[in-house]
Amino acid sequence: MDGRRARRSCLAVPGSSAKMIDKARGLAVDQFFLDLEDAVAPLAKAEARDRIVGALNEGGWDGKIRSVRVNALDTEWTYRDVVTVVEGAGAELDTIVLPKVSTPDHVRWLDLTLTQIERATGLEVGRIGIEPQIEDAAGLVAIDAIAAASPRVAALVYGPADFMASINMRSLVVGHQPPGYDVGDAYHYTLMRILIAARAAGVQAIDGPYLQIKDVDGLRQVGGRTAALGFDGKWVLHPAQVDAVNELFSPRQEDYDHAENILDAYEWHTSAAGGARGAAMLGDEMIDEASRKMALVIAGKGRAAGMTRTNPWTPPTD
Ligand code: GLV
Ligand code: MG
Repeated sequence: MDGRRARRSCLAVPGSSAKMIDKARGLAVDQFFLDLEDAVAPLAKAEARDRIVGALNEGGWDGKIRSVRVNALDTEWTYRDVVTVVEGAGAELDTIVLPKVSTPDHVRWLDLTLTQIERATGLEVGRIGIEPQIEDAAGLVAIDAIAAASPRVAALVYGPADFMASINMRSLVVGHQPPGYDVGDAYHYTLMRILIAARAAGVQAIDGPYLQIKDVDGLRQVGGRTAALGFDGKWVLHPAQVDAVNELFSPRQEDYDHAENILDAYEWHTSAAGGARGAAMLGDEMIDEASRKMALVIAGKGRAAGMTRTNPWTPPTD
């Protein structure tokens, strides 16, 4: 499976649009998903499945994580989505995004179905990952069991639009505070619940879309919050959102340099050559095992995003 690959930006692409699929190939996103769910009208689903199989097999995706969002399990389409796409292009597919997951049974169903298709078609069993979308109150309540329901789970994905509708939140603008609520962040509990569940299960936490595609400042504000909390990435709906989201979910250069320097300095100071110390100084800062763990997170995100160091630490020479 695709473990810790960077998922800073994940582009939503309607599976029914040849034009948008073609355009997606050239965008600098870490991941894309070809959608069979809400972006595709009921009468266009069958044709979109075939188009998606063709697009995956054609390739040209340049190392991006390749995903397909199938329909939710409260429809009649899901099994046919999975069978058509995985039988037709399973070797060219990294994960399936499963929307409106409200119970771990949904994930188990997909895991078992994938295993069947993989066995029947000679694909490596277990390689295709699952990204459950948390989009209602039941899903949030069951989130720990959902995250643990299959070793294929690679990320938990917040679906803010469906989620806000499901809890009757009095707002139509995804990510912005509902008018009348002025004592905090109305999304804090939901976002933290998803993040903690993802971290406890060792999988990634991904924020959903920001729908005002022309409002890049609003995107920066809303996405900046989830990036600051520790989410790994966010969906994008339009080319205009890509750069902002990649930037928000990459460490700043100075933080990346600092993190790598903490790791190097700490390794040297704890080694025999550096005096085998448990805590040490890096400039004016004391670093210890806990600093190393924090630095590993930032360095890991920077490395996954392909960043390079500009200011490497060197051991003292005397
Ligand atoms: C995405 O699927 C959402 O509901 O926000
Ligand atoms: Mg949704």
